[in-house]
Amino acid sequence: MREKFERLEAKKSEAILGGGEKRIEAQHKKGKLTARERIELLFDKGTFEEIGMLVTHRSTNFGLDKQKFLGDGVVTGYGKINGRMVYAFSQDFTVLGGSLAEAHAEKIVNIMDLAMKNGAPVIGLNDSGGARIQEGVVSLGGYADIFYRNTRSSGVIPQISAIMGPCAGGAVYSPALTDFILMVEHTSYMFVTGPNVVKTVTNEDVTAEELGGADTHASKSGVTHFACENEVEALERIKQLLSYMPSNCEDEPPMLPYELGNESRPALNEIIPDNPNQPYDIRSVIDGTVDEDSFLEVHKDYAENIVVGFARLAGRSIGVVANQPQVLAGVLDVNSSKKGARFVRFCDCFNIPLLVFEDVPGFLPGTDQEWNAIITNGAKLLYAFSEATVPRVTVITRKAYGGAYDVMNSKHIGADMNFAWPSAEIAVMGAKGAAEIIFRKEISEASDPAAKLKEKEDEYAELFAHPYNAAARGYIDEIILPEKTREKLIRAFEMLENKVETLPKKKHGNIPL
Ligand code: HXC
Repeated sequence: MREKFERLEAKKSEAILGGGEKRIEAQHKKGKLTARERIELLFDKGTFEEIGMLVTHRSTNFGLDKQKFLGDGVVTGYGKINGRMVYAFSQDFTVLGGSLAEAHAEKIVNIMDLAMKNGAPVIGLNDSGGARIQEGVVSLGGYADIFYRNTRSSGVIPQISAIMGPCAGGAVYSPALTDFILMVEHTSYMFVTGPNVVKTVTNEDVTAEELGGADTHASKSGVTHFACENEVEALERIKQLLSYMPSNCEDEPPMLPYELGNESRPALNEIIPDNPNQPYDIRSVIDGTVDEDSFLEVHKDYAENIVVGFARLAGRSIGVVANQPQVLAGVLDVNSSKKGARFVRFCDCFNIPLLVFEDVPGFLPGTDQEWNAIITNGAKLLYAFSEATVPRVTVITRKAYGGAYDVMNSKHIGADMNFAWPSAEIAVMGAKGAAEIIFRKEISEASDPAAKLKEKEDEYAELFAHPYNAAARGYIDEIILPEKTREKLIRAFEMLENKVETLPKKKHGNIPL
């Protein structure tokens, strides 16, 4: 018995070595950790249990029979993160470039199936050259088995992907189907085809960094939600993200203990500038309202005219969506609509209440926006809010103009409560634009058209640039001083704690994609 066990121990040491010391050294030289070092940092100490350490591939093609590695290039298993059960796989680039084929895929599929049956998140640490070329179609089949499970698990259990090396082909499509992607600056890349293929097909000269580096995907494509300085930061960010989420869609998000005290926040009174056209940073409103240091911004560098992220309010996990007056005056455009919609839908999947801060002058006009389908894309955000059944509360801080008023979680599309600050302006459009249209004739015939325009603008502003008409209709539940916002929101979300709302029976809706 003991002898047999010692043989097993020797095999374990072999598995731990992955592709060998030289390749591990090369991995470290690139500033990357190994698959096992990453797992070690991700899980609570001593809680990770590995599954399938002795699995190997069965291929003999292209000399693969002489290149067998225990574990087949992926570490899979389960353990605890901050005391909660989580499943994970971590690809080992030192073994055949972390490439995925039959056995490698079977191990990942096993983890995903266990996670689904037991209702716990799956974390993928991706470091892979994609489908293992030598194994042919079984590699493609293996990827498709994973894609299928990513999709079936979507909305049932949270799925998070960290990109920790050069990921190509299938290695990027599985992450794309998950809820959140994190990339590491300068050591991770994501592309369907790398720079060499790009050069051959389109004759473009582009570096891996420009084509699919963390900054590119964080700011240009929006493929990644987080660009992290190094791997340790990425792993910490995963743990932080998980702390806001329930383990599955039938669970409630974790609630931290909180004792109510003086919830008045006078600093909020000072944020809105006197000039309604002057920008301010909506993050100061978010940070000033939610629990101290609790705001975790998602998709920070992409479509910055909308800010989304997780926070806590009196210990309760919430999702925040806010127009950002500091960028493009906070307008809604194609990218911000997509960004907002995706975040709203995540929160709705996982029972995370939604808080909206609204300061939006409308949708961005222009050929660029129209030709890139602002109609279809703006409709995504409208659809996402309308469909959401979690508790939903809006605070209008300043502008709520046009269709954007409807879209940004108005009561008409199912929000439970709408508050407005006294600085709110709720109307079809801003005073100048409105006066120019409805008093055009009067203005053009006036002896002093500029003075007439100003007079009509003031008249319109007096009549509409405030929240009282909306409040008189019950569209706004209460006009509150900014300093009272936190207190009112804590009470509103507590009141909505047991909200139950079911959608009409259907197979699934048809969000305008
Ligand atoms: C088998 C692979 C591999 C692969 C890398 N390797 N990718 N082996 N199948 N897909 C091996 C290399 O041969 C090498 O082995 C080792 O891994 C390290 O690779 P390097 O090229 O030396 O590393 P690096 O310079 O860092 O470049 C990494 C890389 C590059 C950018 C990922 O290897 C690359 O472009 N690989 C091919 C990517 C690709 O086209 N994959 C197939 C996609 S098709 P040795 O022994 O020499 O060290 C796909 C279809 C799925 O995935 C369907 C999706 C819908």
